[in-house]
Amino acid sequence: MGSSLSSQSENEGPKAIPPGPWNPLTILGISKSPSERLTDMSYHYGPVFSFRMIGAPLTVVLNNHRVIEEALIGNADAFPTRVTSPLRHQWGTRGRIFYSHGEDQVAIRQFVYHGLKVFQEGVLFVKVSEEARHLCDAFGKDDSPIEPTHLLTLASGNIMSILNFGKRYDYNDQNIIQLMESFDYLHLALDPTNPVHQFPWLYETFWYRKLKQSQEFVRDFIQDEIKEHRSHFDPDNPKDFIDLYLKRITKDDDLFLVERAWYTIKDVFSSSSNPTAAGLQWMIALICQHQDMQQKILEEVEAVIGLEKLPAFEDLHKMPFTHAFMKEILRYRTVVPFGTREVVRDVTINGYHIPKGSRVYLNYWAAERDPDLWHNPDQFMPERFLSSDGKTVLKHKHHIPLGIGHRDCMGQTMALMEMFLFGTNLLQKYHLKFSPDEPPPSLRGICGTVVVAEQFKLIATKRN
Ligand code: HEM
Repeated sequence: MGSSLSSQSENEGPKAIPPGPWNPLTILGISKSPSERLTDMSYHYGPVFSFRMIGAPLTVVLNNHRVIEEALIGNADAFPTRVTSPLRHQWGTRGRIFYSHGEDQVAIRQFVYHGLKVFQEGVLFVKVSEEARHLCDAFGKDDSPIEPTHLLTLASGNIMSILNFGKRYDYNDQNIIQLMESFDYLHLALDPTNPVHQFPWLYETFWYRKLKQSQEFVRDFIQDEIKEHRSHFDPDNPKDFIDLYLKRITKDDDLFLVERAWYTIKDVFSSSSNPTAAGLQWMIALICQHQDMQQKILEEVEAVIGLEKLPAFEDLHKMPFTHAFMKEILRYRTVVPFGTREVVRDVTINGYHIPKGSRVYLNYWAAERDPDLWHNPDQFMPERFLSSDGKTVLKHKHHIPLGIGHRDCMGQTMALMEMFLFGTNLLQKYHLKFSPDEPPPSLRGICGTVVVAEQFKLIATKRN
């Protein structure tokens, strides 16, 4: 940790606010990613630290499993909702999955769970398998090196497009390309250390024009889809999330309204497509990086599924190494590095006073590499999730890459299914390796609200 950091209140007794740097600008910087910077600071200040920009509320960062659990489980009522985005006042937050709380949150989560259940019990498996086929075709188009991160983003975007809009796009269709580019930009730009969170007026300045344009593009895209759906809506035959939303609108309910539909749809889309795309990117990058592990996964594929049969999601439970590999991806490159919460009452965490009105960052990135809980946390080691005979997948209570508490991830099964089916379908057909003509990727990742892999090139060689 740099010597410029000095503690404000480390020894001020149990009711002191958490310690932190006297100069809050140290949370900014370009040499390291936001996840690395905040994690480095936790090594210096401990599991709970804070900073305050002039004119902005106190921000507290929680950095290990114990304090995150103390907040989200032990004091859940103090942290009901996320820190809202700069568009809060312009477009409102009611109806948003991310920002609703109390009864609204219960109703919206129920609605989303219902939609996901219908989809998961119905067409999800078929649609992911079909998309995996399209992805395999794109990987094997010719023998030249391919850049997979873009394709994986589009494939994951297509699953969400099928779920929400009822259709998939070709990988060269500008509609899905522009939609995913806009979501990518929003996820990259809105990392929690972006000054716009502290000073929302920045949003109206020149520097945030692209952010605004991306938000407006996404809004208009989804609103056009809703308009289209309304023109031939059949309540007896809902085909996707938009139809389910339209069906949910009733005269006596003031939460589900046509004009709010795009909010909910946008949250379902963006909470899923980008984290899942990042999970897929890391999976392919790590498969290329660790050829010995690729071989082990292939051996499980051959033993349990074979190279011809369509992989089924249930196969995962007979493939412990593959399962452990996927768990380790979500630990090693914690795809959603942070959660955020607004603090609505005074609360004590780890003995420190956190006043009402503060903001809290849940540093999942740091929690997943806490050296007290993870042996060699910076190494990629799927075997940490395996029993010593390699046959049983271990659950670690402190493994929380999908969050905990009443705002945890709603798409855990879906995320796992996409990673498993895309990964196994690809490995049935191809041996994957980094292109020897390009420098190997750093695998540090690019951190926004999601940690994505840097672009890289691979060679997909057909099996047999
Ligand atoms: C690898 C893929 C994924 C990862 C790593 C991931 C991770 C997370 C995490 C860490 C949170 C909680 C953040 C917080 O504490 O504030 C979250 C929330 C959420 N996730 Fe996921 N997610 C993934 C895929 C999905 C998918 C496929 C869906 C499907 C719809 C989904 C839907 C959601 C929703 C709706 C929330 C917000 C819940 C709420 O605020 O009530 N996620 N996700």
